[in-house]
Amino acid sequence: MHYLSAPGLAFNRCCIHPIDWAFWLVVLWLCWIMLSTGAKALTIILKIGEKVMQQIWIPKPGPPEVFEIREVADPEPAAGEVRIRVEAAGINFADIMGRLGVYQDLPPMPVVVGYEVAGRVDQVGPDVSEALLDADVLALTRFGGYSDTVCVPAGQIMQRPGGMSAEVGAAIPVNYLTAFQLVRVMGGLRSGDTLLVHSAGGGVGIAATQLALHLGAQVIGTASQRKHAFLMQLGVTHCIDYRQEDFEQRVQQITNGKGVELVLDAVGGSSYKKSYRCLAATGRLGMFGVSSAATHKTKNRWSYLKMAASMPWLQFNPVSLINHNRGVFGVNLGRLWNEMERVQCWLDELLKLYSQGVVQPVIAKTFSFAEVGSAHHYIQDRQNIGKVLLKP
Ligand SMILES: NC(=O)c1ccc[n+]([C@@H]2O[C@H](COP(=O)([O-])OP(=O)(O)OC[C@H]3O[C@@H](n4cnc5c(N)ncnc54)[C@H](OP(=O)(O)O)[C@@H]3O)[C@@H](O)[C@H]2O)c1
Repeated sequence: MHYLSAPGLAFNRCCIHPIDWAFWLVVLWLCWIMLSTGAKALTIILKIGEKVMQQIWIPKPGPPEVFEIREVADPEPAAGEVRIRVEAAGINFADIMGRLGVYQDLPPMPVVVGYEVAGRVDQVGPDVSEALLDADVLALTRFGGYSDTVCVPAGQIMQRPGGMSAEVGAAIPVNYLTAFQLVRVMGGLRSGDTLLVHSAGGGVGIAATQLALHLGAQVIGTASQRKHAFLMQLGVTHCIDYRQEDFEQRVQQITNGKGVELVLDAVGGSSYKKSYRCLAATGRLGMFGVSSAATHKTKNRWSYLKMAASMPWLQFNPVSLINHNRGVFGVNLGRLWNEMERVQCWLDELLKLYSQGVVQPVIAKTFSFAEVGSAHHYIQDRQNIGKVLLKP
């Protein structure tokens, strides 16, 4: 056989020798490896200067294990917005309802929930004062709070008083604004009145108790038994274990049949009816949630329908009252986005009360982003006394 030889090449007249085939395949393979490794290295080098943000997503309704942590490009603040590097984010019961797929205000899934954060401003958008750069703030977020970076309208942030940690800052907005609206703005609670607060050991319950005691009112609280000692220490005069006792009967006993001036009820369903019957003359019932629709860890149509069917539809329309923030009376902080100036005034007052030692957020537990599922279990297992937080 004749070979035509050139450096590194060996042909016969009509075909390439199999050994040369193998040689060129190896060369091609090595080139491919070098190119792809180079491309990867280049991507890594380019990404070193570019920060990506971490967000906790709910891809579809499900149990606490459904969360996914995803990395996406850092957001840029639009006109009128600031960007916050989040140091702590609040978890609210609405996030649990959202995860279950029974929260009517939730945007379509996949979605990032979260109504409040605290952190430091690191960038401002056009039209926003540069004086806000590096400010330590707390903020209301209209979803998206389960992130290590958020962009929010400057009207939704408030500077934290000196010495207030990010954890305390993230524990204030939703719980205390809701409590303030319930107790002070709409509930009109006064010194000498009696308040009945359900889920008294939760974030809103503790906030409402602190505000009511400051006004000189007496507080009756319903909560699971293990929270009673803590609540009595906080200043609650009577604790009712509503899962063992009939709270309506107990309230009538405690008040000698008079009833109470204000009830705060976020349990919903038949609890609204019983709470309504606990009212004294001129008494007000504040409805602001339906925790009783979240008795399972996945969406359970039966418990939702049962709760819906037991609502006092004939007396009034609780859903409409809650969503319209109108008297007799419903509260939904998540529907006050067009009333931010008023909400800012309430927040301002709350921060003054914080400086006076009246507002003292109780932090039940802080979870890392990776532990977000455990955080939801913790709340649904009724373990929390106070606020549950996430830390990036
Ligand atoms: N409308 C608004 O603007 C607004 C704003 C904030 C909160 N909320 C509502 O207020 C309620 C309390 O919120 P929060 O942030 O204070 O809650 P939280 O701190 O997470 O407290 C949850 C507590 O609620 C009690 N609970 C009652 N029914 C429950 C159920 N089916 N599953 C699990 N726990 C149940 C449990 O305490 P016990 O076992 O001791 O009773 C639990 O520890 C929620 O319904 C929430 O949606 C409404």
